[in-house]
Amino acid sequence: SQAPVKVAVTGGAGHIAYSLLFRIIQGQLVGPDTPVELRLLEIAPAMKALEGVAMEIDDCASPLVSNIVMSDDPNVAFDGANICLLVGARPRGKGMNRSDLLAANGAIFAPQGQAINDHAADDVRILVTGNPANTNTLIARTHAPDVPATRFTSLMRLDHNRALSQLAKKTGAAVTDIRKLAVWGNHSDTQYPDITHATIAGRPAVEVVNDTNWMENEFIPTVAKRGGAIIDARGASSATSAANATADHMHDLLVGSPAGDWVTMGVTSDGSYGIPEGLICGMPCTTSNGEYEIVQGLEFSAFGKAKLAATIAELENERQAVHELGLV
Ligand code: NAI
Repeated sequence: SQAPVKVAVTGGAGHIAYSLLFRIIQGQLVGPDTPVELRLLEIAPAMKALEGVAMEIDDCASPLVSNIVMSDDPNVAFDGANICLLVGARPRGKGMNRSDLLAANGAIFAPQGQAINDHAADDVRILVTGNPANTNTLIARTHAPDVPATRFTSLMRLDHNRALSQLAKKTGAAVTDIRKLAVWGNHSDTQYPDITHATIAGRPAVEVVNDTNWMENEFIPTVAKRGGAIIDARGASSATSAANATADHMHDLLVGSPAGDWVTMGVTSDGSYGIPEGLICGMPCTTSNGEYEIVQGLEFSAFGKAKLAATIAELENERQAVHELGLV
């Protein structure tokens, strides 16, 4: 029988994991026939809740689960891991400023990067979902000098999926008719959801939409502020949709993006589009076999250029802040 893929998930007792783990054991990450070993990381006070989650995984009697390992030690959880889904993070607490938040997450993602460096499998692929996702990825990557930078990616797929759904609603198209959407920049309000390269059933999306005001003043803010809208409505942050996007991202990275289309991922900039090298930035990528390529040669409108510049400035600011904290 096939050797199990070892999938480490951090924040295993949290809300996103409560959806994500049950997608993984149904084969939505690595394929319907590949067994998985789950390696779940939590902090000590959440270990009991994590045991409850593991009991529920047992009770699904999934044929794909070969083993469940639980630990509060990243050196154990990441040992031999082929896939690391870094979901657990420190949310902004009362009275915490941005620097406190970055420092608190640095204390999580620096040791986790180190542990991945020292213990993960040679073919490891890492996806960071925990916020601030782009900068947490930068921190983890910095602390894993022996792991190729291209193995580290951050979640922009939820933004991409949100954009797809909004564009489909606006035009009455099926999401499957839409190709080549992109969401550039940071997973934050400054992101640039970009339909200018997109097609809908083969026609330029901009032509189908034919409404610049909608694109600039409704579509972009709706997508960029969707997380906040969900918190307002649900009283809790997006969980199942974030889990869905996490699974989509890793699935497409491993299995490959559809022909004639691309996916949005947060990846290490190679300097394309004037995005400073090394920043973790949302960009359109084609993928196959666990590798990605940044889509090259796209043209930007003046509006698009300004949007890209603003979100890049924010990412550079975050990088500077964690640099000053000695984290990168
Ligand atoms: P949650 O608070 O329900 O769960 C987080 C879990 O992580 C908790 O169980 C906590 O004990 C655990 N944790 C904290 N520090 C840890 C550490 N050092 N090692 C292992 N586990 C640790 O939060 P939820 O809703 O599951 O969200 C998780 C993260 O995902 C948050 O940072 C959230 O902002 C982010 N998120 C990102 C999105 C994206 O599109 N990039 C979308 C939605 C949420």
